[in-house]
Amino acid sequence: MQNREFDIVLWGATGATGCRAADHLARRCGGSGLRLAIGGRNREKLEVTRQSSPDKDSVKAILVGDSHDDAFLRKMTAGTRVVVSTVGPFALHGSALVAACVATGTHYCDLTAEPQWMRAMIDAHQGRARETGARIVHSCGHDSIPSDLGVQFLQEAAMARFGAPCHHIATRVAQMKGAFSGGTAASFVNAMKLRETDPGFEALSLDPYALCPQGERDGPDGPDRMMPLQVTWDPELRAWTKPYFMGPMNAKVVRRSNAIMGYPYGRDFSYEETALTRGGVGGWFAAVRGTVFSRLFLKAMANPSTRAWLQRHVLPKSGEGPDKEVREAGSYEIVLVGKARDRDVLMAKIAGQGDPGVRSTTLMLTEAAICLAEDAENLPVGGGFWTPASAMGPRLRDRVSEHAGLSFEIIDNWRTER
Ligand SMILES: NC(=O)c1ccc[n+]([C@@H]2O[C@H](COP(=O)([O-])OP(=O)(O)OC[C@H]3O[C@@H](n4cnc5c(N)ncnc54)[C@H](OP(=O)(O)O)[C@@H]3O)[C@@H](O)[C@H]2O)c1
Repeated sequence: MQNREFDIVLWGATGATGCRAADHLARRCGGSGLRLAIGGRNREKLEVTRQSSPDKDSVKAILVGDSHDDAFLRKMTAGTRVVVSTVGPFALHGSALVAACVATGTHYCDLTAEPQWMRAMIDAHQGRARETGARIVHSCGHDSIPSDLGVQFLQEAAMARFGAPCHHIATRVAQMKGAFSGGTAASFVNAMKLRETDPGFEALSLDPYALCPQGERDGPDGPDRMMPLQVTWDPELRAWTKPYFMGPMNAKVVRRSNAIMGYPYGRDFSYEETALTRGGVGGWFAAVRGTVFSRLFLKAMANPSTRAWLQRHVLPKSGEGPDKEVREAGSYEIVLVGKARDRDVLMAKIAGQGDPGVRSTTLMLTEAAICLAEDAENLPVGGGFWTPASAMGPRLRDRVSEHAGLSFEIIDNWRTER
């Protein structure tokens, strides 16, 4: 692989996340000598991305082609060691690129949060990826790196402290400040359309183990319900919780990590992810209000005419995203509460700087790409479809801590931390 022309190709360097990823990659590759190219379908836009880059000399080439052009993608992937993609919705524009990476033995990471598409890609290409050595790692953005690496971090601490992993972990989104991009809105819209047309969509969404290998799709967790009208009390954090939109998706990735790593968290491991409000009556009202609002939004998105109206008037369009001020002022915090068998409780806090939807996401994505390129000889897995934790684990944790503004910390008490 060393004789390939590029170390990393950033595919989709013109969108809301792609432009930001290009800036970060150019800066990082300039400092480390990695050979970087950027690609997409529009040369003029790609030139603008290169010219506005803080380190434009480290962008060695611009590759122009279409996400549906197999011959072009074959050539592009054969000439690089790692492809990192922001061209989504991935279910619409991502399949040919994954196939090309698998065929040419090229490592790959992306930002998808579309479990149906991930399942389809695994089923179609897992065997061949093992043969060619291509490491394919989906969901390397805010969905699902903080959850996936956070659980792995907490379980390492549980092993050190209790000699056993936690059998249950609840991840609570304690704080989140930022906005989402046009591509995220487009992926959501596409998922709502698939729900109407794809007969298997709903069953896969509900199946908590849908991303686990065949024969390994059972365990203690019940169905992943998207935005149920459910408010729960967290006794350890002494606060109310409400459903978190991306919880079901992140949970599927965490459960897949456990299964494909050979169950280091145990076969009876259960996982949930919700958002935190606060204690008292005020916290309960806030949780109920948030739950009802999210449910109404989901209903409106499920109806074709209100969805079309929301797309026209409310949701960001492709290429749009939060402005610089919002991206830089954004932040988030998640708290993981782990329970061990003898009722010992262990907690971790994962904090991120920058808005989760664009800035933090693109920093994490580019660190994943650099990890696949620089740590290729030292990763614990060969070719195949992996999760962030199973493919890169602590190496990626170190990288996102050093370069992407994340922190991982074991805490004794959440309330005193606030
Ligand atoms: N996991 C997470 O936490 C997370 C966070 C944010 C976003 N995302 C996902 O990331 C993806 C990108 O989001 P975004 O907001 O950056 O989207 P966006 O602004 O719409 O950008 C999409 C990119 O895809 C390119 N593209 C579209 N069709 C193409 C084709 N046929 N051939 C080549 N390139 C094509 C666009 O090129 P043009 O500029 O030429 O149109 C653009 O570069 C979405 O799927 C979104 O759901 C995930």
